[in-house]
Amino acid sequence: MAVFSSITHLGSNPPLIGFVLRPTTVPRDTYKNIKETGVFTVNHIHSQIIEDAHHTSAKYPREVSEFSQTQLEEEYLDDFYAPYIKGAKIRMGCRFLNEYEIKENDTLLLVSEIEHIYISDTNIQQEDGWLSLSNADTVTINGLDGYAKTELLERFSYARPKTK
Ligand SMILES: Cc1cc2nc3c(=O)[nH]c(=O)nc-3n(C[C@H](O)[C@H](O)[C@H](O)COP(=O)(O)O)c2cc1C
Repeated sequence: MAVFSSITHLGSNPPLIGFVLRPTTVPRDTYKNIKETGVFTVNHIHSQIIEDAHHTSAKYPREVSEFSQTQLEEEYLDDFYAPYIKGAKIRMGCRFLNEYEIKENDTLLLVSEIEHIYISDTNIQQEDGWLSLSNADTVTINGLDGYAKTELLERFSYARPKTK
């Protein structure tokens, strides 16, 4: 388990996400686990768990699970091999598809498909399918050590040329 802030949407059909992995010149347990099992989960951090979530970025030896070093608990859903974080409000089960080397700085872009999505509360998903991350209390990451609340300012209709 570790914090990743570089996770980004890559496309909707098929539903793809990507994230950037730091150079694999030192052991990267997350990378090794993903390559060995082919799966991982993405769990949104909410304000109540920021301290433990941040602690998961500490360099523990491979045989030490970050679950054993924090109050965060594992939960297995629908026979998916990778554990989710119990109580996280938005969770995704993902399957690794491919990796691309970013030669300029020796990092990797990992591309994965979202196979499962779990949303905990009824007030998170709106009628049109859109998820309110503020209602989910999902935090955003500022730099490498700051965690902030999100506040929705506005939603807009699909932008069309010359139409306000
Ligand atoms: C706020 C924050 C964001 C991070 N984002 C990333 C990231 O996008 N990619 C990455 O490779 N590491 C990122 N890290 C570092 C990993 O969490 C850290 O290297 C962790 O130990 C990875 O686990 P592993 O080395 O066992 O694979 C981030 C750390 C913090 C605190």
